[in-house]
Amino acid sequence: MCGIVGYIGERQAQSILLNCLHRLEYRGYDSCGIAVGSDVEVYKDVVRVKVLEKTSPSLTGVIGIGHTRWATHGEPSQVNAHPHCDCTGKIAVVHNGVINNFQKLRQQLTSEGHNFISETDTEVIPHLIEKYYDGDLEKAVETALREVDGSYAIIVLMAGEPKLVAARKDSPLIIGVGDRENFIASDVPAILNYTSRVIYLEDDDIGVVTTESIKVRRDGAEVNRKEHKILWSVKDAQKAGYEHFMLKEIHEQPKVIRDTISGYVSMAEPIADLALLGDAGLEDMLILACGTSYHAALIGKYIIEELIRIPVRAELASEFNYWGQTSARSRTIVITQSGETADALKAMKRLKGEGCRVVAITNVVGSTASRIADQIVYTRAGPEISVAATKSFIAQLMALYWLTLPYSKIDIRRLDSLVTGLRQLPSKVQQVLDNEAVISECAKQLSKYQDVFFISRGINFPVALEGALKLKEISYIHAEGYAAGELKHGPFALLGSDTPVVAIVAQDNTYEAMLTNIKEIKARRSPVIAVVEEGDEEVGELVDSVISVPQVDAIFSPVINTVVMQLLAYYTAKQRGCPIDFPRNLAKSVTVE
Ligand code: M6R
Repeated sequence: MCGIVGYIGERQAQSILLNCLHRLEYRGYDSCGIAVGSDVEVYKDVVRVKVLEKTSPSLTGVIGIGHTRWATHGEPSQVNAHPHCDCTGKIAVVHNGVINNFQKLRQQLTSEGHNFISETDTEVIPHLIEKYYDGDLEKAVETALREVDGSYAIIVLMAGEPKLVAARKDSPLIIGVGDRENFIASDVPAILNYTSRVIYLEDDDIGVVTTESIKVRRDGAEVNRKEHKILWSVKDAQKAGYEHFMLKEIHEQPKVIRDTISGYVSMAEPIADLALLGDAGLEDMLILACGTSYHAALIGKYIIEELIRIPVRAELASEFNYWGQTSARSRTIVITQSGETADALKAMKRLKGEGCRVVAITNVVGSTASRIADQIVYTRAGPEISVAATKSFIAQLMALYWLTLPYSKIDIRRLDSLVTGLRQLPSKVQQVLDNEAVISECAKQLSKYQDVFFISRGINFPVALEGALKLKEISYIHAEGYAAGELKHGPFALLGSDTPVVAIVAQDNTYEAMLTNIKEIKARRSPVIAVVEEGDEEVGELVDSVISVPQVDAIFSPVINTVVMQLLAYYTAKQRGCPIDFPRNLAKSVTVE
């Protein structure tokens, strides 16, 4: 999960590469580097791109490659940073992915006289290319990659060669088409400053890019890959005056809800065909995802079980890949914002291999998930830059509601009222955003503690998990999401005045049980912040602080309560001075298992 970029044209490459790398930092940012010019001058360091921009010497050349790293093999260090070179220093490679058989290749190459200096898996690639180079760079790359087992998106720069060679397998890679200049990058936002014309490379493609031409080869023969026009602009991937991308993205959510559901036409036109062929119809469902998207999957389970009344399993893709039964009769949904998460893609491939039809809910047009799926439901969150997922999660929930409603077994009056409720969600979310000051005050309190519990029940239990994940991820406070009824089965031992609890209390059949749980917690002296619906008078009497949220149908309460969780995490992290958009050790797109 690194970001890679390449440029070839008539302008100086260095500043363009650095500009693109800024926009790729969401993929990893523990170190970065560039190689520029026909002499392949390399500069790399264990710093963020903005520092490299200041410290790098001026490198001359109209061709170059760059990399921002999320370490997998070898700690973040100058020597492990990319680009990596062959023995001669004439071939430089940037790589995103993992080479599984790198140990074997390294031993083999070492025995043949190649000298390795880093701990990375990547370094075998330039050495393999060196080994096979006999005057034809594309052929050498092609031959080298035949020996490689693993995932990769690579860009190769070689001294004296007026071209860049790119290749991909199970890692994303695009070519940006310019006017007498071309770009290669892991993702679209990297190059949007320069062009909105994009070609998506496919697995096993080799792209050969010069100033004036783009050729894509596969198995030695040239193939035609369509050019796409990207509709969002560079402005969508900028902070627009907000202090952090995360805050901007939280505030975009009313619009994201509107955009996502307005793309879904009408109830009469389902956005995906959930019904199975055959008479038995839709019998059960399996939803797979990772991280925040997994929390959307869990909420999806509640939505579908309540509205369609079929059993639903929501599972972590990373676990499912090693366990878990499937049935070709099950409808399966994979949720992945980026469409590039390795665990989610592996699960999709397994499902397809076992004869299941897969619906993918994803935010990224042309992503790998969108290419594997039988059906794609696009969310319309726009580019999400902050590592912490916010608006993409809310858009996933919108997709799940809209996907489910046409198949629901509820009576028409309730269906109508839910459709109306769904359309009112943007203004309800706006009300939560308008209450930011109260949430930020509660965050000030939370920021003083080292451990926090988030609890709820029913459809809001996944919101508690999400609240805890968000807080851990960006504020570095240890937090646990718990089903409220489970605290007494062990975690009560940790309660006390040093361990606050955030309780999400919905107006549904869990309300009374939540009141009981809160009383039990207060009896153990834990400070409690409760998120309650406006008009609730009982909870306020029991707890230390209250955050009121607008009334909605309980099935929509996860949307409203999640926005509170996001703001709580954001302001807590801000209070603690954390690097909110780029938390340590993380990356936005997790393309390794
Ligand atoms: O792109 P995906 O939705 O597949 O990503 C899954 C997780 O990596 C992601 O949701 C992660 O948990 C977020 N950074 C959490 O904020």
